[in-house]
Amino acid sequence: MAGRTFLVVVLVLTASFYSQANAHIQFAGKPIPRQSVVIDSLSFTVHDPSTPSRTSSTTQFFNPTNTTPPFFQIFHPAFLDVLGDNPSIRSVASRPTFPFALGAGIWDERTDEVFFASGAGGVEPEPSGNQIAKISLREVERGIAHTRTSTSFEEVENVNVTVTKLDIPDIVQITIGGTGPFRGALLLVTAGNTKFPPSLALVDPQDPSNTTILLDNFFGRQFNSLDDAKIHPKSKTIFFTDTSYGFLNRFRPEPRIPNQVYRFDPDTGEVRVVADGLIQPNAIGFSQDGNTVYISDTAALGGFSETNQSLPATIYAFDVDPRTQAFKNKRIFAYTDSGIPDGIELDSAGNVYGGCGDGVHVWNPQGILIGKFFLGANSADMVFAGKGRLVILAGTNVYLAEIAAGGFNLAF
Ligand SMILES: *[C@@H]1O[C@H](CO)[C@@H](O)[C@H](O)[C@H]1NC(C)=O
Ligand SMILES: *[C@@H]1O[C@H](CO)[C@@H](O)[C@H](O)[C@H]1NC(C)=O
Ligand SMILES: *[C@@H]1O[C@H](CO)[C@@H](O)[C@H](O)[C@H]1NC(C)=O
Repeated sequence: MAGRTFLVVVLVLTASFYSQANAHIQFAGKPIPRQSVVIDSLSFTVHDPSTPSRTSSTTQFFNPTNTTPPFFQIFHPAFLDVLGDNPSIRSVASRPTFPFALGAGIWDERTDEVFFASGAGGVEPEPSGNQIAKISLREVERGIAHTRTSTSFEEVENVNVTVTKLDIPDIVQITIGGTGPFRGALLLVTAGNTKFPPSLALVDPQDPSNTTILLDNFFGRQFNSLDDAKIHPKSKTIFFTDTSYGFLNRFRPEPRIPNQVYRFDPDTGEVRVVADGLIQPNAIGFSQDGNTVYISDTAALGGFSETNQSLPATIYAFDVDPRTQAFKNKRIFAYTDSGIPDGIELDSAGNVYGGCGDGVHVWNPQGILIGKFFLGANSADMVFAGKGRLVILAGTNVYLAEIAAGGFNLAF
C-alpha cells in the first residue's frame, strides 16, 4: 500500500513540475530539453487501483503526465542523445478532413522535398480518394523562421505548408509504401486493387506521369497486397513485404500465396522469398551496414482497423545471410504498447524508430524503449530528412521533429 501511495504522489509532482519549470530539471546530469517529460519506469510498475487499466492499445494511450501532444516522452537517458539540447516537434502540414499522409515517406535530397501517400483501403478502390503528394522542407524552414522562438515548454508554433498532389497514373494508385529515391526515382509499393495487381513502381518525382512498373507477379501469380520496401545498402537490391490487408479491407481477392518477404533484383529480374512464418509482414528496415533487418508483424491489426490484441504488434530482428541474403536467426526485438509498428526507420546510431498508435517509438539496438515522439495520434510512417530532421506522417498531420539524431542514406 505504501508503494501505491508513493506512486500517486510522484505522478502528481511530475506533472506540475514539468509544466512549470521543466528547463531547470536535470535527468542523468543533463538538462531536460523543451517539450519533454521524463517518465521514470519505476513510477508505473504498480498500477494505481483507483484508476482504470488500459483495455485498448489503439484508443487509450500511455500518457501518465497528461501532457498535451506533441511532446517527447523520455524513458531512458539514451533518448537525450537522440533529442540533443534544443529539440522541437510541431505540425508542419495539416489537413483536418483527409488522412493525406500515411505511408511511403521518401525524402528527395536534391529538392529537399518529402513525398508520401494517403491511406489505401475501403470497399472498392476509389483512385480519387487516394493520393500521392509532397511538401517542400524549404517552405517548412521558411515558415519556422517566422514563428516566435521560446524556451518555455509550450511555445513551439505550428506551420502549415502547401501540400502538392502528384498527377500520377491510376496503376500507381493505392500506393502504401515506398523508399528511395532509387536510380533517381521514387520506388513506390502498391497494394493493388480489383483492377490492378500489387506492384513495385518507379515514378519520376519531377514528371510523375513517367512511371515504370518493375514487378507485379511471382511467376505469374499476383502478390496479395504489397506493403513496404527498402533497398539493401550493399547489394542494392529491393526487399519488400506482402500482407493480406487488401483482402481484409475488401479491395483485393482472397490471398493465393503466403504473406512473405521477398528479394528482387531489378537488373536480372530474379525474385525470391527471404522470410516466411510471419502473419502480416509489414514494415522493413535495414541497419546501416545491411547485416541486420527489422520486420514488423502487424497481425494485431485486421481489416477495417479491427484489432485483436492477442496477436503480434511486434518488430522482429533477423541476420541477413551474407551469402544468400535470406533472413535467418529470427528473434524478438520489440513489442509496441500502442497500435502496430507500421513503419520502421533506423538512425545512424542503430536506434530503431517505429510508427505506432500514439506516435513514433524509439528503441535502442538492444530493444529497450528509450523514448517516444508522442503525438496522441496514429503515426503510420516516418522518414529522416538528413541529419537532425525526422518527418512523421500522422494521417491528417505531417510533423517535423528537429533533433540531434540523423538517418543514413536510403537513396541508391
Ligand atoms: C492548413 O491549410 C489548409 C489549406 O489551406 C487548410 O485546409 C487547413 O485547415 C489548414 N490547417 C489548419 C490547422 O489550419
Ligand atoms: C522516364 O522516361 C524515360 C524516357 O522515356 C525513361 O528512360 C525513364 O526510365 C523514365 N523514368 C521512370 C521513373 O520511369
Ligand atoms: C484473436 O486471435 C486469437 C489467436 O489467433 C484467436 O484465438 C481469437 O479467436 C481471436 N479473437 C477474435 C475476437 O477474433
